[in-house]
This record gives sequence, C-alpha cells and structure tokens, in this order.
Amino acid sequence: MGGVFLSQLRLNLFMHLPYHLRHLEGFGSNPHRCCVVSWGLAVAHIIVLGNEKGGSGKSTTAMHVATALARMGHRVGGLDLDLRQRSFARYIENRRASSEAQHLDIAAPELLELPEIDPSQLGEGENSLDKRLAAAVATLEARCDFIVIDCPGSHTRLSQVAHSLADTLITPMNDSFVDFDLLGRIDTDGTTIKGPSVYSEMVWHARQLRAKAGLTPMDWVVVRNRLGAQEMHNKRKVGRALESLSERIGFRVAPGFSERVIFRELFPSGMTLLDLRELGVDRLNISNLAARNELRDLMRALNLPGVSIDF
Ligand SMILES: Nc1ncnc2c1ncn2[C@@H]1O[C@H](COP(=O)(O)OP(=O)(O)OP(=O)(O)O)[C@@H](O)[C@H]1O
Ligand SMILES: [Mg+2]
Repeated sequence: MGGVFLSQLRLNLFMHLPYHLRHLEGFGSNPHRCCVVSWGLAVAHIIVLGNEKGGSGKSTTAMHVATALARMGHRVGGLDLDLRQRSFARYIENRRASSEAQHLDIAAPELLELPEIDPSQLGEGENSLDKRLAAAVATLEARCDFIVIDCPGSHTRLSQVAHSLADTLITPMNDSFVDFDLLGRIDTDGTTIKGPSVYSEMVWHARQLRAKAGLTPMDWVVVRNRLGAQEMHNKRKVGRALESLSERIGFRVAPGFSERVIFRELFPSGMTLLDLRELGVDRLNISNLAARNELRDLMRALNLPGVSIDF
C-alpha cells in the first residue's frame, strides 16, 4: 500500500504545475510519506530511458537492463511510452511468445499497457495521459522492485512526466556530435561547450521538480552506444566533450555498447545477450562474450539499490 500511495502522490505532484506548486511545501512533512519511509516499506525504483534523439538505443537498452534485473531475481515492470512504435513493448511480447513456443522457463519483465481512463472520471483540468501513466505506475509499484520506462525519441508530455519520476535516468547516445547536440551546444571547434541544449534543459526542469518535492535526486547516466572499433579520433573528441559537459550539467558517463549485429538480431525472439544459452548457443563467440561484459559493466555502473551483479 505504501508504495502505491507514494507513487500516486509523486505523480500528483508532477501532473499539473499549479497543483504541484500548491502542494510542494507540504510534501516533505506529509505523514503518509513519512510512514512509508520510517516503516522501511519498499518503493519501486524507477528507471527511465530517455533521449529526444531517435534511434539512440533506448528500447534496446531498456530491454537489456529490464531483463538483466529480472534474470537476477528482481521483480521488474515495463512501460512503453512510445504508444505508436511500441518497440520495448513488442520486445517483451516477443519474449513471451518465443518462451511459450519453445517451452522456455526464463525470467521476463512484466509489461503493462497504460490503462484506458473513462473521460468522465477526469477532474477539471486533469490530463488523461497523466492519469493513465499514474495508474500504470501505481499498479506496477505495488508488485515490482523496479519499473523500467522507455520513452519515445521526441518531446512528449508523457516523456516529460516520466523524466520527473526517474530515480535513475539512462540516456543512450550514438557516438556522434549530431546526438551530442541534444545534450549540449558546442562551438564550431568541437571542443568548447557553449551551454546545455533542449533535452538537458528538460532534465534540469525534471530535477527541479524532484528537489522541490523532497524526492531523492535523480541519478542521470549517459551511455555511449554503438561505439565503433575504428573512428578513434571521433571517439576521443566525443568522449572529451561529454566529460566536460557532464561536470557542467551533472550526469555520469557509463560504459556503453559497441556496434554489434547481435543487438539487431535478437528482437524477433525477444531474447537478450544474457539468454543466448537458452537459445541453444553453447559457446559464446568472442563478440558475444564482449557484448555480455559490456552489459555487465553497465549494470555495475548503474549502481542500482539492492542489486549485486552475478553474471
Ligand atoms: N549497440 C548496438 N549495435 C548495433 N545496433 C544497435 C545497437 N543498439 C541499438 N541498435 C539498433 O539501432 C536501432 C535503434 O535502436 P533502438 O530502437 O533501441 O533505439 P531507440 O532510441 O529506442 O529509438 P527510438 O527513438 O526510435 O525509440 C535498432 O535497429 C537497434 O537494433
Ligand atoms: Mg525506442
């Protein structure tokens, strides 16, 4: 119950700015919240995958993080806020379909669709998308240790609200200054940071909301994805730019994934790098082993509460 209450409470806080501003002051001393904390009741840890740049690896990373946690015995819920594309949802559905077809007993995240809301239930000025997200988080929070939320590669209201809920925000980015441009503006020399960019400003706003509400600070982790074996010069330049931007706008850079065809092949089966044995691969080749190590290093770097990496 405590978890459900807190999730409703924190969603209420973020849903409507006027409401939010009216209630911020009282949040820290809210008796229900204090009970939740002092009784040590578990509150699901929310992991959000976000980047307004499309195709940066959010859904692929969401599935790998969610599955890794589920395989390690944690209860994981999954929400896909890209209501049209549904790549993360489709990935989880594919996993269920292939484990049923092949009679595999493998751990999986629990996928939840945003429930439909009867418009007559909406209060004045209430947004139906907000309410649907609130209901889904409350449902999952009651039965999960982690909720993994995958956002679309564009700026939407659902994505904005989800960012405010993130205990951990993972931002995968392709190793390119085109992707970097969504995080920070850089001078023509490719080295001097001029300032934060639109996406960073949205994250900053989400952080402000959390701070005012007395929630724990968000841990923002940028993950470099699809790193090439060559292009050392570009890799170093992007790396250096990220380091200086991270100090300015407050994120960590975690080890990411190299460019590997395996990431593109696994989607139809719903499997991840950790399930290759179940797929009948007895001996992992060097590339698969390296990819698995990359996932392990990322999971370690995320430093999620109550998680000790055992793969
Ligand atoms: N490390 C990788 N190596 C090779 N291909 C990858 C890697 N990571 C992701 N991909 C591929 O890149 C494409 C985009 O990945 P994904 O769908 O996860 O990105 P996304 O950020 O969720 O995209 P969108 O913004 O459209 O939701 C997919 O075809 C995926 O298979
Ligand atoms: Mg996606």
